[in-house]
Amino acid sequence: DLPRFVKIVEVGARDGLQNEKNNVPTSVKIQLIHKLVAAGLSVVEATSFVSPKWVPQLADAKDVLTGIPQVPNVRFPVLTPNLRGFEAAVAAGAKEIAVFASASESFSKSNLNCTIEESLVRYRDVTAAAKKHGLRIRGYVSCVIACPVEGAIHPSKVAYVAKELYNMGCSEISLGDTIGVGTPGTISERVYMSLISHRRSFVFIMSSVSGSVVPMLEAVMSFVPVDKIAVHFHDTYGQALANILVSLQMGISVVDSSVSGLGGCPYAKGATGNVATEDVVYMLHGLGIETNVDINKLMEAGDYISDHLGRPLGSKTATALRKL
Ligand code: HMG
Ligand code: MG
Repeated sequence: DLPRFVKIVEVGARDGLQNEKNNVPTSVKIQLIHKLVAAGLSVVEATSFVSPKWVPQLADAKDVLTGIPQVPNVRFPVLTPNLRGFEAAVAAGAKEIAVFASASESFSKSNLNCTIEESLVRYRDVTAAAKKHGLRIRGYVSCVIACPVEGAIHPSKVAYVAKELYNMGCSEISLGDTIGVGTPGTISERVYMSLISHRRSFVFIMSSVSGSVVPMLEAVMSFVPVDKIAVHFHDTYGQALANILVSLQMGISVVDSSVSGLGGCPYAKGATGNVATEDVVYMLHGLGIETNVDINKLMEAGDYISDHLGRPLGSKTATALRKL
């Protein structure tokens, strides 16, 4: 059964912009966020309180967060990698934070400059402080299918990190296919089993990509309730919508996406943006699933940022609808 309503977590202003080489003015980021809210999105990730040496584009985090007026019933989570970032976020008025760990040791090192265990120790402090302030906490796990350096990541590693984040008080765990290599068979066992019986060659693709026959979502769902799980697919291999559909069939009803498919992680070379929000909304509405998002207003946000970046639209739906 598919959910009736899917909550979209719009990550374009953060995940989408963090990798842009040219500085995007603070006013443009704020305007983009406004347009995303006007389109009906109720969760708009705003920025990251990370080291400006690591992510120069988001050095204006404080000005972005203080520049967006608080809107009732709209949440603006911000990424915080450590207590220092947490304190800066709180000082700027953050009501919701996100911590981000990795299921891959190599990626943890390149993204956070520490081991997975060290990151979890830091996040225990951050989440304890957030709970004291009564803030909501989102937890990301990256490299849930594969890592750019290590290749396939075993689902048990993903499940472990997800469980730790959940147990320290994250109210939602977002599972990130950072480099976008996952296919429906690597996401869910149900699909994997039917594919395996139809196509022997698939076994090869599956084992070379995921290295495992225990699909990832089932592994996480044995520790984290399904209504606390979000999926975060990058569309590098064009698999994101298929993976989202399989995730919905598994009972997931929170989907991360980025307007106009903006983005990529600065520490995952070659990875493209997240699945485009317009494409997700088009698919969901086509399935009769509600989102509260107005696709026309969403496309205005996509036009605005694509114009600013001087880039063609990164959403197939928006490209098609603009031609009508
Ligand atoms: P480090 O170099 O090990 O830490 O970085 P440090 O403590 O030595 O600090 C280095 C410098 O940064 C120092 O400045 C600190 O003061 C400063 P200096 O003394 O040299 O002038 N600093 C900070 N400044 C501002 N805010 C802070 C902060 N902390 C330290 N919070 C650190 C460790 C964690 C800080 C660094 O590695 C970092 O900022 N990493 C963030 C990387 C990042 O944002 N990556 C992208 C987001 S993750 C992602 O995209 C994946 C996701 O989308 C899911 C998916 O797709 O799978 C979520
Ligand atoms: Mg991401």
